[in-house]
This record gives sequence, structure tokens and C-alpha cells, in this order.
Amino acid sequence: MNRQCHFISSLIVLSFLVVSPVFSQQRYANFTPGKIWNDNNGVHINAHGGGIMEHKGVYYWFGEHKIAGPKGNSAQVGVHVYASKDLYNWKDEGIALSVSEDLKSDIAKGCILERPKVVYNKKTKKFVMWFHLELLGKGYAAARAGVAVADKPGGPYTFIKSYRPNPEKMPYYPEGTPGQEKVNCDKPANKSDGFFCRDLPGGQMARDMTVFVDDDGKAYHIFSSEENFTLHLAELSPDYLNHTGKFIRIYVGQQTEAPALFKKDGTYYMIGSGCTGWAPNAARWFKAASLFGAWKYMGNPCTSPGADLTYGGQSTHVLPASGKKGSFIFMADKWEPKNAIDGRYLWLPIQFEDDIVKIPWHDQWDLSVFK
Ligand code: DGJ
Repeated sequence: MNRQCHFISSLIVLSFLVVSPVFSQQRYANFTPGKIWNDNNGVHINAHGGGIMEHKGVYYWFGEHKIAGPKGNSAQVGVHVYASKDLYNWKDEGIALSVSEDLKSDIAKGCILERPKVVYNKKTKKFVMWFHLELLGKGYAAARAGVAVADKPGGPYTFIKSYRPNPEKMPYYPEGTPGQEKVNCDKPANKSDGFFCRDLPGGQMARDMTVFVDDDGKAYHIFSSEENFTLHLAELSPDYLNHTGKFIRIYVGQQTEAPALFKKDGTYYMIGSGCTGWAPNAARWFKAASLFGAWKYMGNPCTSPGADLTYGGQSTHVLPASGKKGSFIFMADKWEPKNAIDGRYLWLPIQFEDDIVKIPWHDQWDLSVFK
């Protein structure tokens, strides 16, 4: 081969390497919490405050699409969705729910739309997305739950409505609840009870949230309420599109955010955080023999240095691990409020010591940790 020929063939190989997705695509075989995590296009995954739904062997990761700069925490685009079969490598599937250009819409561009979670309703065969919604220009005052539906897992999702759950409804109390723990709106016993009673006519505030589907197909919406002082766990209707009016209050007055709920061997577990804006704080976990309680506060599940600040993150979801029964992944966000799009993901394996939840730190790990 003469020199010119050699030069041309080198150019061809080089351009193939650059344009071919086979070679340009980074393949992951492990998780590296807190590091940049690229999608199939080599772009850092943009699905913050997210949750994952598995459907027919494919995982769908839904989360807040953030933009660069300090205003990036407002919803300028909508809910982003990615798909994966192995949990390491994610394909960008686009925007599952778009914000509206109509300024009168509840989900008008620039509103706050956080912590989207999608569940599949086997009876209606619809995919149902719930999220925390704040109306455009009203800061965090609206505190509503929003709901959207789709026929396909990746969407597009159609927005249905937003509202404050359970107006005029009093909490449900499991048998044996002491009288002094029951809210009395004639004489609220504390700040949180006061907010609960204030909001009784119009519905309870709904901010940080998750949705959980139990083995019997019933779904529950768990959210920070009462000015973020108390969590509510509320039953959803069989179509998952409404609240039934049955709900409990959890850890009254203790300011729990970022709830993530899961079930193992018949016991219900929940991991959440404290309430310090975008700044990290210590995680907290709870367990219960029944969804309607009583839920027991169990302390901080994190066990390595950095545990007092959840390693810089805040919980968003707990994912049953790929094909490994009884194994769960703790998913958290490391927020970057000054440049929201640069927020990172902390995924860590949950360790169980009998029914005690532990989340040690790993710089790098893979699914083989689950025996
Ligand atoms: C903490 C919440 O967990 C986030 O979802 C977000 O609402 C921020 N607070 C806003 O400060």
C-alpha cells in the first residue's frame, strides 16, 4: 500500500470509530455512585427525583428533566424516560410527559414538577404517573398531586388533573392507636395537627412522594404533607387515578421527605430523609407489618463515613434488583441546585441483617453483590 492509500484507509477507520455507535458508545458493567452516568448517546442521564418501573423485562427510569443553570429545577421540559434491560446501560426514550405551552395549564412550562413515579395497572392496562406539582409562579404553595396516563410504558403520557388529596377526610387509625395520637381538630395538639385541620376543607398538601403497588394490586400514594411535617400513606382507587379517602399519618411532626417504599418477605420498609431543601441530611428508615401501620422509626440505614448526610444524597426510590429476588437497590439524588442538570445519582445495594436495613457506601459495585 502506498503512502496515500494508507492515509486514506486510516481516515476511513478513524471516521468509522467516531461515527459508529458501536464504538463510540460507552458500555457499563457496574455502578459508580456520584459519577457522571451517560446514556446511549453519551449524555449524562437526565432523570432526577426518579423512579423505575419494570415492564416485560425492560426497566423504565422516569425522572425530572433538569436544565443547566440555577433555574434548572423548574420544569422547562417535563419528565424524561430511559429504558434498560441490565440497569447499567440506559437508552434515551425521550420525554414521557411534556409540560404545556398553555400558561393556564396546571403543568404550564416553568411550573415545578417533581419526583414522578409510574406504576402499571393490570386491570385497566394503563400506565399511571403520579408526581408532585407546584403551579407556575406560586413557589411551593400549591402542594398538589398530579396524575397522567399512557397506553405504553414510555408514553406519551396525557396529563389528567392535579389536586390536594382527601378533602374532608379524617385519618384511618389501626386498632390499638392510643387516643392521644388521634388528631383532634377542636384542639390541635401540635403544629402538624394544626396544618392538617387547616387543610381539611380543601385537601391535604402533597409534596415529596412515591407510589407503591402491593402484591394484591392495590396502589398507595405516600407523600409529605402538613407543610412537610408529616407523611401520609393514602390508598388509591382501583384505577389508580383517585384517592379513596383512606389514609394514615406517619411519624407525625418529624418532617420526613423523599419517601421510598418496598416490601420484603411480607414486611414493609420505607426509607426517607429529613427536610433541608436541596442540602443533604441523614436518611431514616421505617418498618411495618401492615401498610396501614403502625410504622416504626428505625434510625439511619447508612453505615459508612458520610452516613450523617446520606453520602451527599437524598432518597428517591428503592428498586427490586434485576432478577435477584429479595435484593433491593437504594436510589438517591445528589442535587446540584446551582446547575441542576449536573445532579448525580447514588445507587447503592441494600444489605439486610434479618429485617434490619443497612446501606454501606461502595465506590463501585455490580449486581453480583446480591448472592
Ligand atoms: C427537597 C425535596 O426532596 C426535593 O424534591 C425538592 O422539593 C427540594 N426539597 C426543594 O427545595
